[in-house]
Amino acid sequence: MQKKVSLTGIKPTGIPHIGNYFGAIRPALELSKEYEARYFIADYHALNSVKDPHLLKEMVYEVAATWLASGLDPEKVLFYRQSDVPETFDLAMILMAFTPKGLMNRAHAYKSAVQENEQAGKDPDDGINMGLYTYPVLMAADILLFDTNVVPVGKDQKQHVEMAADIAQSLNRTVGKNLLVIPEAKISESTQTVVGLDGRKMSKSYNNTISLFLPSKKLHKTLMKIVTNSQGVEEPKDPETSHIFTLYKLFATPEQQKKLAQRYRAGGMGWGEAKQELFEVMDTYLAPMREKYYAIIDDKEHIDKILKEGAEKARQVAAHTLGRVRKAIGVNPLYR
Ligand code: ADP
Ligand code: TRP
Repeated sequence: MQKKVSLTGIKPTGIPHIGNYFGAIRPALELSKEYEARYFIADYHALNSVKDPHLLKEMVYEVAATWLASGLDPEKVLFYRQSDVPETFDLAMILMAFTPKGLMNRAHAYKSAVQENEQAGKDPDDGINMGLYTYPVLMAADILLFDTNVVPVGKDQKQHVEMAADIAQSLNRTVGKNLLVIPEAKISESTQTVVGLDGRKMSKSYNNTISLFLPSKKLHKTLMKIVTNSQGVEEPKDPETSHIFTLYKLFATPEQQKKLAQRYRAGGMGWGEAKQELFEVMDTYLAPMREKYYAIIDDKEHIDKILKEGAEKARQVAAHTLGRVRKAIGVNPLYR
């Protein structure tokens, strides 16, 4: 039997953070053991916000090196850069004709940008480009082009994957066959929303992230910024309501978690000490990956080579799907 396909993308908008790692990268790599995996760097999605060409190029390397340092094996996983697969943009254009405008009005990234403008008393569409507005169509093309069954993502991307499924269904209904595979988001229960320094969802847009490959000293300094309540050292603390402990759980063994939870409840441990404990498990966990990351990012030619080989393989798969779709809608199949 043919293996099912798992696909996900990460936007190159800076070195990924702990939320990206536990919400998307690690679950995706876990799935690659069972599924036919296709993982990529979504540089056209990043273009909506990143307009500095040097920076964009650099951030593509950062995300590529992160995937590789996290254990992605390009021999086993189809690994590529979105902009190297132009079939994506052809399919995106086709999907536009099957996407109701109202659906895009409901997409949360667009909706929250409009809301922010309204609150600031600006024109609702101030600073909003068509790339942001049609973001879910491009994402649907990424997904549908590779006959994807599951999309490992954090909870915030669930709506986008549902939109990809809606768009696929609309096309399938119109051409009267199972032309496109209907995708489903796969959200890992324990890491669906990793919290940031301030206890809100960790996100670049909230400026509360812990970057994956900070050198030890900087990591320590960043963790000391975690916001806490005013409970004193002697007071017993509830580990379940502390986001220091929530983060600790991601890195510690069950045994370590049990022991530290007891110390929280017993009192006598201040927040500073709780942060120190977090630093220690985190630094131990991340050190080997960090070392790999800096070695990989130093060899850009090697990254280029991996991405080039990935692009060639990805284009073959993509051309096949695109040919099928072009034929079904009545334009020149061109690709086969
Ligand atoms: P950001 O919100 O920081 O801009 P992205 O939108 O680039 O992050 O997210 C890349 C991937 O990481 C997506 O699959 C997203 O769902 C996941 N992700 C991002 N932040 C978190 C988080 N705090 N917890 C779990 N998953 C997350
Ligand atoms: N929109 C995703 C994010 O912001 C990135 C992305 C682009 C993606 N295309 C995708 C994720 C296709 C999964 C599948 O994180």
